This record gives sequence, structure tokens and C-alpha cells, in this order.
Amino acid sequence: MAEHPAYPVGLRLTGRRVVVLGGGQVAQRRLPALIAAGADVHLVSPGATPSVEAMADAGEITWHRRPYAEGDLAAAWYALIATSDSEANTRASAEAEAHRVWCVRSDDADAATAWTPATGSSEGVTVAVLTTEARDRDPRRTAAIRDAVVEGLRDGTLVAPHHRTRTPGVALVGGGPGDPDLITVRGRRLLAEADVVIADRLGPRDLLAELPPHVEVIDAAKIPYGRFMAQEAINNALVEHARRGKSVVRLKGGDPYVFGRGMEELHALAEAGIPCTVVPGISSSISVPGAAGIPVTHRGVAHEFTVVSGHVAPDDARSLVDWPSLAKLTGTLVVLMGVDKIGRIAETLVAHGKSPDTPVALVQEGTTAAQRRVDATLATVAETVVAQEVKPPAVIVIGEVVGVGRNGTA
Ligand SMILES: C[S@@+](CC[C@H](N)C(=O)[O-])C[C@H]1O[C@@H](n2cnc3c(N)ncnc32)[C@H](O)[C@@H]1O
Repeated sequence: MAEHPAYPVGLRLTGRRVVVLGGGQVAQRRLPALIAAGADVHLVSPGATPSVEAMADAGEITWHRRPYAEGDLAAAWYALIATSDSEANTRASAEAEAHRVWCVRSDDADAATAWTPATGSSEGVTVAVLTTEARDRDPRRTAAIRDAVVEGLRDGTLVAPHHRTRTPGVALVGGGPGDPDLITVRGRRLLAEADVVIADRLGPRDLLAELPPHVEVIDAAKIPYGRFMAQEAINNALVEHARRGKSVVRLKGGDPYVFGRGMEELHALAEAGIPCTVVPGISSSISVPGAAGIPVTHRGVAHEFTVVSGHVAPDDARSLVDWPSLAKLTGTLVVLMGVDKIGRIAETLVAHGKSPDTPVALVQEGTTAAQRRVDATLATVAETVVAQEVKPPAVIVIGEVVGVGRNGTA
């Protein structure tokens, strides 16, 4: 008989009887998708792997603890034949043929009337890959193609805009500390689909270079001690572009809610009736010390870490930080936006009881090619910052964890 390509189709199995013969590894791999499809799954098998048994115990499938018997496939819409007895498999597929039940066979693809594609999902789309003809069957190749497509969709390198479902609005995306690989999969995908990107100076700036030419990139750089785009102007830009029906990404450094004014932007959008989604990001407060070999906690050294903003000095009336209490903590102190005020911060901590020998590390431009680490103590940090010309952005870590990565012990 001439060979023709398989005809791809999506089966809607909700409430429909599917019979699986054999409770081994094949069933274990295939059952979750059948359960997810809502099928009324009947497993016929004297034994089963612990995972398959757990599915039966949980009531996700009905397990008939016996070998295949003639008639098992009579009421099925679809069958998966995967017992270790090839003679039983042959009898079962003959029964499937007689009842016109599409059947997959794990031991003999040629004898099957259906093939299982390599499948994967991303954001509401199922990707299913089949080779065109039986003689080309190569499960590793189909799985590799499936992986390439699904990963491409997830990380945004394969751009497939949602023409029908994409709604205008704003995504507040936490871009991570700077390394373009440290944005989330969701953030990267939304960026790839954006019409307008309003970006901070911090965060994965390299990703902007990858955007197609039609994407409007607006620089919301809030350069410390320099030019800045007022928050209100940023809020207005978000609202305006979304109102024009654009998909807007507000690309922020780290996480939007860690000293990121994310909630202010969310409120402004809510007031304007603009839909907004928030995508968390990897905050510099943990990742930048980590990139410089400093764990913010370490067994036997620090059981807590506290993240504070150092943008106003401890004696400034606007400060909401209780520095005297922080001086009494034994754990790690992580200071963001503190380069300019570190001298007064160190003085205050020492004045309230912290040892002047407490180790301090300043990590500038963490996770980028320009990353640099400068070490000091509370006693020396003020002069070290000046002598070493440490500049923002930097994360300052205060505590014994600073020594852990270097020596293996604190
Ligand atoms: C306005 S805060 C934003 C923090 C951000 N939302 C986060 O979760 O990382 C900016 C401060 O974060 C720190 N920072 C952010 N990215 C950094 C990086 N790559 N290297 C060092 N410090 C960084 C610096 O202390 C900087 O002054």
C-alpha cells in the first residue's frame, strides 16, 4: 500500500472513554496529557508503576487490575496499546481496527492507526510535531524541533504576536539586574510582542537592541543625581500609549516592587482604566551579591537578611529606616541606593553597636560586563568608596556573609 503522510488532528477527549493497555513507563508518560484533556481513562493492566498507581489512587483514572481481554476496546474512542506482551498488543490492535478505534502502539508504529506527536505548550498554544512518513520516524528529532519551538516562544526568540488575543495595555516587567539572560521567560516574551517599551537605565538594556525597528523605545532613565524623567511623565506616557491601542512594556530594573515604584505606576494605570499585568523580576538585592560570590544567608553565619534603601541619610527626617535597630541585628544588611550616604550609614551603625570591623562589600554594575567588587569594613568604607571611585548603581552588603564565598567560612 502506498504510504501517505499522517493527518494531524486535535482530539477533544473530554468525558470520552480512552483505554490504555499496560501500566508501565509508556502509560506513565502519556497518562498526564490524557488526564489533562479530560478523558475518561481506563487502564487495563495487572500491574502499574508507582506514579500510575498514584493516578488511580487519586481517582484520575480507572484501573482494571487484569490483563487485556477481548472486548476492552469496544466502547473506546481512542486507545493506547503499551503492554509488554506483543501477542496481546497484536490482538488488541486487531480489535481496535474492527471497532474503528484509533490506536497508538508503543511496540509497533507501523501497525498503529495513530501516532503520538511530540508535544509542548506555551501560553495557550500547543505545539505538536510529527514526521511526515513512517520511514522518517525519528522521535529525538521531533522532540528537538518541539523543544526549539516551545523554548523560542517562551523566551521570545521566536516571535509570534497574538494578533487575535493580544489586548492593549501595559505590562510592568521586572527585567532583573542587568544581564539579559536574567529576565523571566514571560518578561522576555512580552518584550518581544511590545509596540512601545519604556525602559529604565538599570535592567537588561542589551535586550532593547534586539527589538524590531517598528518598536518605539522611550528612555525613562532616572540617572542618580542627574537628569530624570519625572514619575508623572512616565505614568502619562504609559497611559497615553496604551490609550492609543498599543501594547506597552514598562521595563524596569530588578523587581518592579523593590524600590521600583511599580505600585505607583499600577495605581496610575488603574485610575485611567488601563489593564495592567505585573511580571516579577530578579531583584538586584539578592542577585548582585550572588553574582559577586556573596550569599545573603549562610548556615551558621546569617539567618536573616534585611534590604534597605540608603537614598536618604540616617539623620534625614525623611528616612523611614530604623538604623539603631538594624545595628542590633546579627544578620546581613543589604543597602540599595546607598553609595552616596554609606559614610553616614556606617557611622550610625557603629554608633549603635555594630563592630567597626564588620565586613562590607560594594558590588557595582552587578551581572554586567562592568561588574566590580570592592571590599572594606564599616570603619573604612567611607574612604574606600572615595579612593576606589565606587559609583552607583551598587549593592552594598554588610555582614559576615561577605567573607563566606572567599574563604569557604566566614
Ligand atoms: C531604584 S533601585 C531599584 C531596585 C530594583 N527594583 C531591584 O529590585 O533590583 C536602584 C538600585 O538598585 C541597585 N541595583 C540595581 N541594579 C544593580 C546592578 N546591576 N548592580 C548593582 N546595583 C544595582 C542599586 O543599589 C541601585 O541604586
